Amino acid sequence: TILIVDFGSQVTQLIARRVREAGVYSEIAPFSAADEAFDRLRPKGIILSGSPASVPEEGSPRAPGRFFAAGVPVLGICYGQQVMMEQLGGKVSVGDSGEFGRAFITIDERCRLFDGLWAEGETHQVWMSHGDKVTEIAPGFRIVATSPGAPLAVIADDERRFYGMQFHPEVVHTPDGARLIANFARHVCGLAGDWTMAEFRAAKIAEIREQVGKGRVICGLSGGVDSAVAAVLIHEAIGEQLTCVFVDHGLMRAGEADQVVSLFRNHYNIPLAHVACETLFLEGLKGVTDPEAKRKFIGKTFIDVFEAEAKKIGGAEFLAQGTLYPDVIESVSFTGGPSVTIKSHHNVGGLPERMNMKLVEPLRELFKDEVRDLGRELGLSEAFVGRHPFPGPGLAIRIPGEVTKERCDILRKADAIYLDEIRNAGLYDAIWQAFAVLLPVKTVGVMGDGRTYDSVCGLRAVTSTDGMTADVYPFDAGFLTRVATRIVNEVKGINRVVYDYTSKPPGTIEWE
Ligand code: XMP
Repeated sequence: TILIVDFGSQVTQLIARRVREAGVYSEIAPFSAADEAFDRLRPKGIILSGSPASVPEEGSPRAPGRFFAAGVPVLGICYGQQVMMEQLGGKVSVGDSGEFGRAFITIDERCRLFDGLWAEGETHQVWMSHGDKVTEIAPGFRIVATSPGAPLAVIADDERRFYGMQFHPEVVHTPDGARLIANFARHVCGLAGDWTMAEFRAAKIAEIREQVGKGRVICGLSGGVDSAVAAVLIHEAIGEQLTCVFVDHGLMRAGEADQVVSLFRNHYNIPLAHVACETLFLEGLKGVTDPEAKRKFIGKTFIDVFEAEAKKIGGAEFLAQGTLYPDVIESVSFTGGPSVTIKSHHNVGGLPERMNMKLVEPLRELFKDEVRDLGRELGLSEAFVGRHPFPGPGLAIRIPGEVTKERCDILRKADAIYLDEIRNAGLYDAIWQAFAVLLPVKTVGVMGDGRTYDSVCGLRAVTSTDGMTADVYPFDAGFLTRVATRIVNEVKGINRVVYDYTSKPPGTIEWE
């Protein structure tokens, strides 16, 4: 195990991810709980994270001193490096100018961290983000790499196996960063690199059992991958103590609701309350055209229905959610434990407080592709785990203007054709999200000998790694022509198709 001490960096979870990618188990502990975690885990290596804090500042956090006397390798990243220097007898100063973004470091000397990776005289791209810098190196260390802005870009003490780097190896902008972290975990700490998703599954199951005990858990299914994977995992842990609630708002894609119901009831045999309430949602959406008003109505109604259903089931003290790491903005507050905010658009946000329930969130530290791996590990089909993300408010935010049953049906047909063609062309997995939008605009067309006056359908396809930024997927013209022809021919109510060429930013992925 590697213990990652979190000083509140925004990217601490990325360190954990890189360690997992190296096939090594890791756990993150906020600095205030690091002592306890050390005793519990008996780690073979320690990584000290970055931080928004400043080492010279009064009251800024430190690593427990005994970590440096435990005979365990330590890697300090950015603030972690500075803290290590300060605690071991070096000096850190508030910088008068920072260094942010891409930088190039030169390798001056070998060290064990670089074995098989970097050699003397080479120059490598890294990602810097720091204001302060180490001005006096602690005894026992030597400088092994430098950059113009960071004379101590990498420092090493091979004897004690202590290493520090001023840059961030965990972000993708440091191209060799993942390999540096893997080198630390395997080569320096001597860990085997044989940790797998199967072990994550086993560890989580034990954790869920411990948390829940004999309690009852309710899990809201959205129809998407995350909540389904969370539910299947929790069911494996506690069986019939789990009940799933599927609030079916009628705003799903073609065939989706049936798939979810049959997957849970028939395939996994997980108790499922399927609450079909399309009419309730469509009635409430009558006359609503403002995107935020739609979202608010859907979010609130979803919670009302869910709460009523949960009351019917009764007796549950836990609420399970498929929250992923990107949904969580996690920071360590300097007075206590981690503080957490969930994106306001998250489906059942607000419910736990309202219903006085405790949260079970087994996917909190994972990224989307890791959740997909876990889903595969749990036996979910490739077609299910590979599904594109789908927003909580569903098709309602893909129908600018008023949402009606008729317009939902038109959109479902067009969307199904589009996705069908994408799958046939073998492009589905290369795209982060692809969907059709039904515009509240009518245009004139001609079909056969007649004039048509029908709606415009927009097509969207983007590539992304986390949904925060996105690029337009560059289909070839032949593909788009084929899709447009099929949609206009096969879907009554649409006579024109356009392709959305906007990246994010400045556009968002969804249209509303
Ligand atoms: P935008 O449109 O903001 O979307 O670029 C980024 C990603 O988030 C999804 N999305 C949502 N997911 N509830 C969700 O669960 C929502 O209200 C919601 N709105 C947007 C969107 O599909 C994309 O993947």
